[in-house]
Amino acid sequence: MWVGVVFCASLLSSLVIAVTVELTDGQIDVVSARLAEAALQSWELGTRAQTILELNATTYSVFNTSVTLPPPSTIPAGLVADGSLDPFFAIAKQIVTNRTVSNNNTVGPQPLIADGSAADPASIGVSVLLANLTGQDGGQVNYSGAATDQLNFLLEKVPKTSDGAISHRVSEVQLWSDFIYMVPPFLAYYGVVTQNRSLLEEAHTQISLYRNYLRDNSTGMWKHVLLGSADNDPGFWSTGNGWAAAGMLRVLMTMQQSQYANTFTSEQSDLASWVAEIHAAIYPHLDTTNVFTNYADQDPSATGNFYDAASTALLAGTVYRASVLLGQHTYVPFAERCRKTLFNTTSAAPTANGTATLAGYQHLTTDGWLTPVVNPHSYGLEGSESAEAQAFVVQLHAAHRDWVLAGSVGQQSGAAPSVARDSSGALLAVAAALLLYLY
Ligand SMILES: *[C@@H]1O[C@H](CO)[C@@H](O)[C@H](O)[C@H]1NC(C)=O
Ligand SMILES: *[C@@H]1O[C@H](CO)[C@@H](O)[C@H](O)[C@H]1NC(C)=O
Ligand SMILES: *[C@@H]1O[C@H](CO)[C@@H](O)[C@H](O)[C@H]1NC(C)=O
Ligand SMILES: *[C@@H]1O[C@H](CO)[C@@H](O)[C@H](O)[C@H]1NC(C)=O
Ligand SMILES: *[C@@H]1O[C@H](CO)[C@@H](O)[C@H](O)[C@H]1NC(C)=O
Ligand SMILES: *[C@@H]1O[C@H](CO)[C@@H](O)[C@H](O)[C@H]1NC(C)=O
Ligand SMILES: *[C@@H]1O[C@H](CO)[C@@H](O)[C@H](O)[C@H]1NC(C)=O
Ligand SMILES: *[C@@H]1O[C@H](CO)[C@@H](O)[C@H](O)[C@H]1NC(C)=O
Ligand SMILES: *[C@@H]1O[C@H](CO)[C@@H](O)[C@H](O)[C@H]1NC(C)=O
Ligand SMILES: *[C@@H]1O[C@H](CO)[C@@H](O)[C@H](O)[C@H]1NC(C)=O
Repeated sequence: MWVGVVFCASLLSSLVIAVTVELTDGQIDVVSARLAEAALQSWELGTRAQTILELNATTYSVFNTSVTLPPPSTIPAGLVADGSLDPFFAIAKQIVTNRTVSNNNTVGPQPLIADGSAADPASIGVSVLLANLTGQDGGQVNYSGAATDQLNFLLEKVPKTSDGAISHRVSEVQLWSDFIYMVPPFLAYYGVVTQNRSLLEEAHTQISLYRNYLRDNSTGMWKHVLLGSADNDPGFWSTGNGWAAAGMLRVLMTMQQSQYANTFTSEQSDLASWVAEIHAAIYPHLDTTNVFTNYADQDPSATGNFYDAASTALLAGTVYRASVLLGQHTYVPFAERCRKTLFNTTSAAPTANGTATLAGYQHLTTDGWLTPVVNPHSYGLEGSESAEAQAFVVQLHAAHRDWVLAGSVGQQSGAAPSVARDSSGALLAVAAALLLYLY
């Protein structure tokens, strides 16, 4: 018994120390600065815009359950004063004003920005809708028309499968798991702000269609790229599974807080179970490094495979969100392992919130870049300085912050981690058993 108490106490103290692993506000500002510099492509701008809401302007984040949708059209004074939304609206303004210049004032269905991807420009759509809703630029910038043209482009101009799935590509029908983050959240939000229920329904329909094509029935993971004439990628791209889970969470929360919530009960439960399904499928592939490989089921030494901290961060963020918002706690211990590994330092972790230095971090460079990461512009290759990876770090930090605020539920709950090599999981189980025995 005495041995048990000492053993248990030392385990608990190490757990308590581990729980405090988190980045300071100063460090997150450094990571945010790299995000701002690196985000240039359509989906990078859209992902950055969403990230700004999740970290700094939570009144306008669909993950904030105390704000019903549509959100306030008058921006709260505190948010105006602290400028948190400035970079968010700057993205919308840059895109919409550039659109007018580059298209010579052409009106009608068109993407927000020229792109071979039919889906990625739509990721910027929520920022354009909010710029319109909150009356940015006093009516001098045509945000409403730009959003409408983007919507109509998706609905009318982009090729579709015979059953109606909107292509991820402009030139031909091809489905990518990434689509789920780029398009359905925009459709749903458009429906909310223009009082158009059918667009929320369309968001769910698109996800359902994509899931039918891309979800692998034996593993439960989503394939990356199918259909089309070339460049298929049937592998279980980890980031793609993260895009799908995160996009579904956004659509679900948009529905749940909307004026149409009680007319979409089965759709909301679909989305909740489809998020859970991805977590249940992919987390068993997490090995003792606590970092996913680029293709989750493949060995890190396989061709085109390597450890990828970007997808690891994205997925872990979705686990904290699912815990707080959907009561899904099973994979919280896995997300904790991932977060503590990505945010771990061999130096003494800083205690002052203003500390911005990043010394001794295995997965963040001293400049704040997440590493190692997949090349976001060539998904089979390892890269560096990835904009989306920076966004995923900030999203993970914000999701964890909100999970702590909500009481850190599920920290030690859930299934024992199922990868046999996982010694930390085994220790947790021993600690829990001892606690039960002692009390
Ligand atoms: C830093 O401040 C934030 C609030 O801005 C708080 O949630 C977080 O716990 C603080 N972190 C540290 C390491 O003190
Ligand atoms: C959040 O706000 C802080 C403080 O203004 C800023 O330094 C940081 O860049 C912001 N992060 C993002 C992702 O906008
Ligand atoms: C949600 O928004 C409200 C109102 O702006 C704000 O007071 C609150 O802190 C936000 N909650 C979270 C969890 O971000
Ligand atoms: C733009 O419109 C103006 C006026 O109609 C025309 O003179 C010009 O050639 C157009 N430019 C392009 C690039 O289409
Ligand atoms: C401006 O629009 C053109 C055409 O859509 C696009 O190629 C370019 O990347 C855009 N530039 C910026 C800064 O948005
Ligand atoms: C833009 O705002 C106006 C005025 O509030 C509103 O009537 C219109 O529906 C909005 N457009 C979109 C696409 O949200
Ligand atoms: C705004 O854009 C829409 C869609 O392209 C267009 O129909 C409308 O005429 C534009 N409004 C103004 C004032 O330019
Ligand atoms: C909702 O949006 C769709 C697509 O733009 C449109 O066809 C339909 O008329 C809209 N419904 C309402 C009620 O505005
Ligand atoms: C999964 O099963 C469903 C129903 O049998 C089928 O429609 C779908 O094509 C299958 N998905 C894949 C990716 O094989
Ligand atoms: C964090 O780093 C320390 C020091 O290198 C190491 O002992 C510990 O195992 C690491 N923890 C995780 C969760 O990676």
